[in-house]
Amino acid sequence: MKPSMTLPAADPRIEALLDAARSASALAYAPYSRFHVGAAVLADDGRIFAAANVENASYGLTSCAERNALFAAVSAGVRNVTAVAIHTPTGAPVSPCGACRQVIREFGPDAVVVSCCDGDARRSWTIDELLPGAFGPHDL
Ligand code: THU
Repeated sequence: MKPSMTLPAADPRIEALLDAARSASALAYAPYSRFHVGAAVLADDGRIFAAANVENASYGLTSCAERNALFAAVSAGVRNVTAVAIHTPTGAPVSPCGACRQVIREFGPDAVVVSCCDGDARRSWTIDELLPGAFGPHDL
């Protein structure tokens, strides 16, 4: 897939990605917030990387599920992701935090971000919708 193409949210691979995000949420280390988040990213080579949020007694050191999944992918050699899926234990889909938006922008400027929850609702966004006018590698 060309990096400039955005994967449609209805693409069948998105279902597998949402399943991976939901499964990953079960492994969250979230004893402080009790908010178990799972994320999964689809690399441009087809691999899926999933992760959960990891908290710390020093609260500010918490690492979100989205960044953990992205960093796992990048550490395995991935440089571009085409989709990011998120599962939160909520009644409505939740969008990624600002820090995660910036990191998604770095490795998936054309990625679709899809969010699911404990209910049936889903939402999807482009990075431009989540982070308009983003600072990026080309600004350096
Ligand atoms: N969290 C995520 O992992 N991803 C998000 O998109 C929102 C927040 C985590 C951080 C923290 O462990 C818990 O959810 C509550 O903020």
